[in-house]
Amino acid sequence: MRRKDMLGLRDVSAEEIVEILDTAARFRSVSERRIKKVPTLRGRTVVTAFFEDSTRTRLSFDLAAKRLSADTLGFSASSSSTKKGETLMDTARNLDAMKPDAIIIRHAHAGAPHMLAQAFPWTVLNAGDGINEHPSQALLDMLTMRDHLGELAGRTVAIVGDVYHSRVARSNIYGLTRMGARVVVAGPGTMCRQDMAHLGVEVRHRVDDVLGDADVVMMLRIQRERLAPGMMASAREYSRFYGLDLDKLRRARPEVLVMHPGPINRGVELSPEVADGDRSVILEQVTNGVAVRMALLYLLLGGEPLPAGADDAAA
Ligand code: NCD
Repeated sequence: MRRKDMLGLRDVSAEEIVEILDTAARFRSVSERRIKKVPTLRGRTVVTAFFEDSTRTRLSFDLAAKRLSADTLGFSASSSSTKKGETLMDTARNLDAMKPDAIIIRHAHAGAPHMLAQAFPWTVLNAGDGINEHPSQALLDMLTMRDHLGELAGRTVAIVGDVYHSRVARSNIYGLTRMGARVVVAGPGTMCRQDMAHLGVEVRHRVDDVLGDADVVMMLRIQRERLAPGMMASAREYSRFYGLDLDKLRRARPEVLVMHPGPINRGVELSPEVADGDRSVILEQVTNGVAVRMALLYLLLGGEPLPAGADDAAA
């Protein structure tokens, strides 16, 4: 893959997506071993810079870098000088002075990673910028779908809930449509706007309108931190119309996959029975996240050739 940064899937080709997913599938076996490490990125420095909260994404990138033997260091806005008023550019200039190789950034402002990628020589990975994109999440979602469905082309993926404010949805829409999948979205009018159709998706408002022919149902958390006041009714009402419970799930195909990027608000977008049920692949998504992030770091930083035995049987 010939690019310095991974900022979003909007301009990533189908060939590149396949290369990332295939590389991730090969890296999976590293995490199954007793010694979970390969020397590929020895001596390289990877910084995680999280200006917004995260559990999975930060741990997963950190673990991915460590499993490739990179040196990792990280900070979060709540414990850094951002709290003392330092600007993003000043923080970045100081990081630059420490000679990193890659920076993984999450920021509330759409475009923050793009700004750093233009201004600095190091690799930038977008771990979520405002409502814009979250490419590594969509890639791990696509790897999980591919594991179960094989080809993505011709499959139907329903994305339900707060689609408009979701960077996870936006990256999935770019990636899935590029791979030839059909994407149908559903949610309340303020969270699932008709003008999203220009992204190449079909917009519906009732969950029942998308469940019937979906191969995958991806449920989203309400992005409360990004909602203007008055944009949402009560959680109870939302859950009644847009939450997935066993009753609604019965109207889907028996083999449908239920996905969620986390964090789940149990009882709001997913009932506990569905979140923990046999159609849920939510924890597989988390496992695949480490492999996808190893693949991204490896491909972007031009690591040494994969050591013998890094491939797993499924590759
Ligand atoms: C998502 C995010 O931060 O965009 N979480 C994640 O990275 N897995 C989704 C969310 O916060 O709802």
